[in-house]
Amino acid sequence: KKVVLAYSGGLDTSAIIPWLKENYDCEVVAFAADVGQGDEELQGLHDKAIKTGASECYIVDLKEEFVSDYIFPTITTGAVYEDDYLLGTSMARPVIAKAQVEIARKVGADALCHGCTGKGNDQVRFESAFAALAPDLQVIAPWREWDMVSREDLLDYLAKRNIKTSASATKIYSRDANAWHISHEGGELEDPWCEPSKQIWTMTVDPEDAPNTPERVQLSFDQGRLVAVNKEHLSPYNALVKLNEIAAAHGVGRIDIVENRLVGMKSRGCYETPGGTVIMAAYKALECLVLDKSAFKHREQLGLEFSHVMYDGRWFTALSDSLLAGAASFAKLVTGDIVVKLYKGKATVVQRRSPNSLYSEAFATFGEDDVYDQKHAEGFIRLFSLSSRIKALNENPIALD
Ligand code: ARG
Ligand code: SIN
Repeated sequence: KKVVLAYSGGLDTSAIIPWLKENYDCEVVAFAADVGQGDEELQGLHDKAIKTGASECYIVDLKEEFVSDYIFPTITTGAVYEDDYLLGTSMARPVIAKAQVEIARKVGADALCHGCTGKGNDQVRFESAFAALAPDLQVIAPWREWDMVSREDLLDYLAKRNIKTSASATKIYSRDANAWHISHEGGELEDPWCEPSKQIWTMTVDPEDAPNTPERVQLSFDQGRLVAVNKEHLSPYNALVKLNEIAAAHGVGRIDIVENRLVGMKSRGCYETPGGTVIMAAYKALECLVLDKSAFKHREQLGLEFSHVMYDGRWFTALSDSLLAGAASFAKLVTGDIVVKLYKGKATVVQRRSPNSLYSEAFATFGEDDVYDQKHAEGFIRLFSLSSRIKALNENPIALD
């Protein structure tokens, strides 16, 4: 029997390797996805997996695929979960799960395994993707099976088997990083009355310590895709990396929220999405130029719907395909340039232009114009408000004369 484990090199997935071998009498193939979480996490991962007892370790570079095929399409929907969360962890799950299934096929595995707890969203996201892509493969979720509960338990378990680990008993926060964001949960954050301490944040400069002079950055979009930063043409992943660097220095993209998990409980989390925050602001500003009122309203509804699809791990579904197709048809219009000013944690759009812009200075001006006859507004308003007039007349017939 062969199991492919989504492996991070952390304490949890390290303990899972010997546990799987003992409890499922299987060979364990470690699989790690590079979704831009940074070199510290990936360095030495292969050796570590083998030393911990894996028979093989595959590290797959998903950085460009993640940004191009998951993040960019999600941006076109405008999805923001519960008004704040830019879905960094949620978006990474389907691309990781898909690559994990591909490795399982390649090595002829019988089962897939992940290290998500039984309390979270991630288990749902992984397993929903597995269900859609590999319904024949067994799924093993050790956290729902074993009775270890603490880091001490896991360290003990490894020590008893003479497996070395660099993990410590006191890791305060649960973090999840990728090219789009880093999330922080646990520790003092479990008390929503407790303000996050300075040490929580790892990706961005504290807005209070950010430069006293603002910086402007230009984003260029072509049919909904970010193609250049400050006029430099970059691949999707490289554009995001560049914007992360610029925006992080100004403390942009921090949020501290209480959110509704799919499994019913609320959780408190801090998130840092510097580049993503700038891209989302720029994208929306460009939509405001090119979409008319009813199209924009529909895009807003689509974004709300898609935020739940993404958060709830429903990427590989017909609903997801349909919403993405709808968003893609709007995205065809989203071409142009946006300048965003970054200052002390804020990203403010200050310039915008598009060949598809519906904005007409001739029509909008407060000065003199020769394209718009203000008299036309009278008839429009009379008909637009006709039902109100009829209702009022019904209620108060005296007004008739
Ligand atoms: N609450 C966020 C979400 O559900 C972040 C989860 C972080 N995951 C993790 N394994 N630390 O998308
Ligand atoms: C986990 O429980 O594995 C992390 C948190 C989440 O999935 O929501």
